[in-house]
Amino acid sequence: MKICRTKAEMRDTVRGWKREGAAVALVPTMGYLHEGHLALVRMARDKADRVVVSIFVNPTQFGPNEDLGSYPRDQVRDLALLDGEGVDAVFIPDVEEMYGSGGDTHVEVPGLSAILQGALRPGHFRGVATVVTKLFNIVTPDFAVFGEKDYQQLTLIRQMVRDLDMPLDILGHPTVREADGLAMSSRNVRLSSYHRGQAAILGKALAAAEELAGAGPDIADLDRAVRATLATAPAADVQSVDIRDADTLAEVCGPLDRPAVVLLAVRFGTVLLIDQRVVAPAP
Ligand code: PAF
Repeated sequence: MKICRTKAEMRDTVRGWKREGAAVALVPTMGYLHEGHLALVRMARDKADRVVVSIFVNPTQFGPNEDLGSYPRDQVRDLALLDGEGVDAVFIPDVEEMYGSGGDTHVEVPGLSAILQGALRPGHFRGVATVVTKLFNIVTPDFAVFGEKDYQQLTLIRQMVRDLDMPLDILGHPTVREADGLAMSSRNVRLSSYHRGQAAILGKALAAAEELAGAGPDIADLDRAVRATLATAPAADVQSVDIRDADTLAEVCGPLDRPAVVLLAVRFGTVLLIDQRVVAPAP
């Protein structure tokens, strides 16, 4: 497994592969890898001849009061895990290499950046869109794989790629869950054991929504059912419950008559967890 710490090394490596006609897949990550990331890597491996994983905790997607400083990191373990998955190269630049003295130019998807998580975290999606564009320009992948857990991020990246005619396919991977239904996330390690137990309520609330959805309920009833389930966990500090069109994230109301996505943002102590599930009425 090749470890590229500079853009030049990364570009040279991919250039060599492309000369041999290889298809390249990129899995962008912020490190502290778990089984969810490794599932993305396996999907990338199925799709392409060569797999690159990037590890970069991107400062521009964190707000001033967010957890950039305490975001968990473990490079040695990450590299060992990726080696075990047969990854071909890891791109692991530092902030200076990635941004240098520049940083004036941004990529923004205005509509999708401003709603939902974007309204709670101003500037977050501009940071994501900009760093993902830079990664695409450096690695020039044919495919890039993202988790569906970050549903708004995935929707926004798909739109950015369409709008800017970026020459690659975006693949979404279903959320990978712990045995009790909690979505895997690098932030889970920061939960106390009490909050870790309580956090399983997210999966239960989404399961309740899925069960109800089959009958084509009113969106307001679906929302009530999700909130009622979340309310059974005393430590769940609900930041938002949103039910939106599954393709566009536009607001929906009235009876559920097409796929919708239920998006949750819930704080446990200091840790903000997000989760989602697409639900649809029975055909
Ligand atoms: O989902 C993430 O881990 C990050 O937002 C990403 C896509 C790697 C960009 O920094």
